[in-house]
Amino acid sequence: MTDFPQRVFSGVQPTGNLHLGNYLGAITKFVDLQKTHECLFCVVDLHAITVPQDPVALKSSIREVTAAFIASGIDPVKHIVFNQSQVSVHAELAWVLNCVARIGWMNRMTQFKEKAGKDREAASIGLYAYPVLMAADILAYRATHVPVGEDQKQHLELARDIAQKFNTDFAASIAANGLGEVFFPQPEPLIQGPATRVMSLRDGSKKMSKSDPSDNSRINLADDADAIASKIRKAKTDPEPLPSELAGLAGRPEADNLVGIFAALKGETKQQVLATYGNANFSTFKGALVDLAVASLGPIGAEMQRLVADPAHIDAILCDGAERARAIAQPTLDHVKDILGFVRQTSL
Ligand code: TYM
Repeated sequence: MTDFPQRVFSGVQPTGNLHLGNYLGAITKFVDLQKTHECLFCVVDLHAITVPQDPVALKSSIREVTAAFIASGIDPVKHIVFNQSQVSVHAELAWVLNCVARIGWMNRMTQFKEKAGKDREAASIGLYAYPVLMAADILAYRATHVPVGEDQKQHLELARDIAQKFNTDFAASIAANGLGEVFFPQPEPLIQGPATRVMSLRDGSKKMSKSDPSDNSRINLADDADAIASKIRKAKTDPEPLPSELAGLAGRPEADNLVGIFAALKGETKQQVLATYGNANFSTFKGALVDLAVASLGPIGAEMQRLVADPAHIDAILCDGAERARAIAQPTLDHVKDILGFVRQTSL
């Protein structure tokens, strides 16, 4: 079995407000992983256009996500931060993988069904093929670890299936080209901790999402202290005090969500939070959560504002990242072309 060097890849769409779910489910994990792994963090603008986007808003969203990465503590010098459309390998490899993935696999993707809604015939082909582009993102770097929130689990499983099918279908050619036994690793999803699925503050049965029409349903990374406090105070709860054991959160989705958010922001487990706040009423707990959220997120929002005020600086970071990303991805694509049997110009 081929041994792949450990490499982390993940992506975030530049489609409007980044929220606490993106931060706790993904970005805080990125920040931790950069201490131990070589990492690439990508602003996935090609994914964004699978649904209509306003070009002016898209450009500022790309810069805003980049600013959020950096304001949260990602180091774009030690690691690679870039936007997807600047590295054409993603789109080229996606085409190859479109020819590996099976329609039957794609038809099982639940996020496509949710996003396409009732009028599936009117959805773009890009939205349908979205998870294949995601597989290309990861496999272009032969990444071994992919930190994501719970909602991306099925897409990661698809990426693993695509990698496996490519390795199997082309096993003889991979070996004949001197590329070992296995060309793509099986990327491992990293979905861990108390906030892998942060729920809406207004409805504990719905995921916190950029597309929820109610701004009170989410805390945006760009929110100021007053907005954070007001949204937490208005968050839906139930009439009972907090339980002191985890089992007591069963059937109480709003309480479970707020405890999960608190735990993730504090770096504790839910059980540890309940050991402190068990039997407290929600007004006490929400007060503590406001203080914690404002202390954790306030400085990030302020730093994001400072960074987006200098778009040239952000663009320079993205261009530098793209160049370094290309240097890793292009050889992968060249090997893929050799494996497929394409003719290409090799260095003379
Ligand atoms: P996106 O942009 O929807 O979300 C970015 C990251 O945030 C996580 N997330 C959440 N985590 C917990 N609770 C929530 N309510 C919540 N909402 C979002 C997502 O799971 C994700 O990790 N397809 C991806 C982007 C992508 C990607 C990739 C990720 C493109 N290529 C390759 C990993 C590897 C997406 O739309 O994420």
